[in-house]
Amino acid sequence: MKKGIKIVTIGGGSSYTPELVEGFIKRYDELPISELWLVDIPAGQEKLNIVGSLAKRMVEKAGLPIEVHLTLDRREALKDADFVTTQFRVGLLDARAKDERIPLKYNVIGQETNGPGGLFKGLRTIPVILEICKDIEELCPDAWLVNFTNPAGMVTEAVLRYSNIKKVVGLCNVPVGIKMRTAEMLEVAPERVNIDFAGLNHMVFGLNVYVDGVSVLGDVIEKMADPENSMSMKNIKAIDWEPDFLRGLNAIPCPYHRYYYKTSEMLEEEMRAANEEGTRAEVVKQVEKELFELYKDQNLAIKPPQLEQRGGAYYSDAACNLINSIYNDRRDIQPVNTRNNGAIANIADDSAVEINCIITKEGPKPISVGELPVAVQGLVQQIKSFERVAAEAAVTGDYNTALLAMTINPLVPSDTIAKQILDDMLEAHKEYLPQFFTAVEA
Ligand code: G6P
Repeated sequence: MKKGIKIVTIGGGSSYTPELVEGFIKRYDELPISELWLVDIPAGQEKLNIVGSLAKRMVEKAGLPIEVHLTLDRREALKDADFVTTQFRVGLLDARAKDERIPLKYNVIGQETNGPGGLFKGLRTIPVILEICKDIEELCPDAWLVNFTNPAGMVTEAVLRYSNIKKVVGLCNVPVGIKMRTAEMLEVAPERVNIDFAGLNHMVFGLNVYVDGVSVLGDVIEKMADPENSMSMKNIKAIDWEPDFLRGLNAIPCPYHRYYYKTSEMLEEEMRAANEEGTRAEVVKQVEKELFELYKDQNLAIKPPQLEQRGGAYYSDAACNLINSIYNDRRDIQPVNTRNNGAIANIADDSAVEINCIITKEGPKPISVGELPVAVQGLVQQIKSFERVAAEAAVTGDYNTALLAMTINPLVPSDTIAKQILDDMLEAHKEYLPQFFTAVEA
């Protein structure tokens, strides 16, 4: 008899874990998980214990035979895993706060996954994910790696290019969020809505929208153009789009596109927030404190609604649906980050893209969209160039390559400012960037 499914979650002490556990519990009939291993590092031990106990209470309340294991030993956990999910943050929220604050000193957007912040999150994260890939190769070579760790697009790109792991899927909640919000605006059930997603992670466009198979893109654009109907997420201020810009674009931008198409307004908003309530990481730190206080309550055995203050709404739906479709060969359509394989004509075949895929037991099969609209093609290609150069810098620790990545990012105005930001951030994140500071032996 086939054993149950073994899932390993790296960064298991995350405040998002109850969301994931809830998703697994809801789908137990289709996804018979026998073991869930939550893995963290010593600095995350306390959070792991708190969130792990809550996970155990949730499973017990649901009356399901899922064993929940908590460990700091990643290699012990990975042995014979079927799915490995990654949701870790190198340097924790303090590092994110630096990514957000330092660029602001130079009048540049400071953001978790975009601009200089996105570059540095990639530089810190990619070496770690590549180490995890080596462990997977050795200890559970048949497992699927499902990555949420940001910057998810750059991380997927790095895994495809610099590891031997082929069974990798990058996941994001942005497309699900757009779909849910679109259904709400149109006042129809989400199951009736389909969106043709294509682009890159946090740079994805809805190229067409259908209700019951009939295109309603024009209606959605008009709804989005109405300031009453903002489409954003908790972590991105919903500054209104110019209605005529949306009409000209004739596609649905994702909330992160505001950093590129409304750069000055977003910068102004970030500066205001940094001086008033704090950057997003600083706000999230406070939210996390409150969440962990709640999680400690021995009587709590569900995901508390307060978790909705975080930007990751629907993330467990994205994760659990993906795992379910791979495990059960459901062949439904889901937007994920995967190898392009020609699906977007303007992007190299071997690069990661975020696109609608048919999800099979062999993994995602991207659905071809041909060329992207000419108006967005250039930006998407530029971000892809940025991701590739950034991934190379993360792997080599080469200063000039990192400066090149910083300079070609569209949010950075000049090579000289790029160098100033780079030097400042390298110093600030030194302890998490050994590849840039350890002398290469002759
Ligand atoms: C969105 C993004 C995620 C990101 C999250 C941040 O959901 O898609 O990639 O991690 O926001 O939310 P937070 O609450 O940490 O600011």
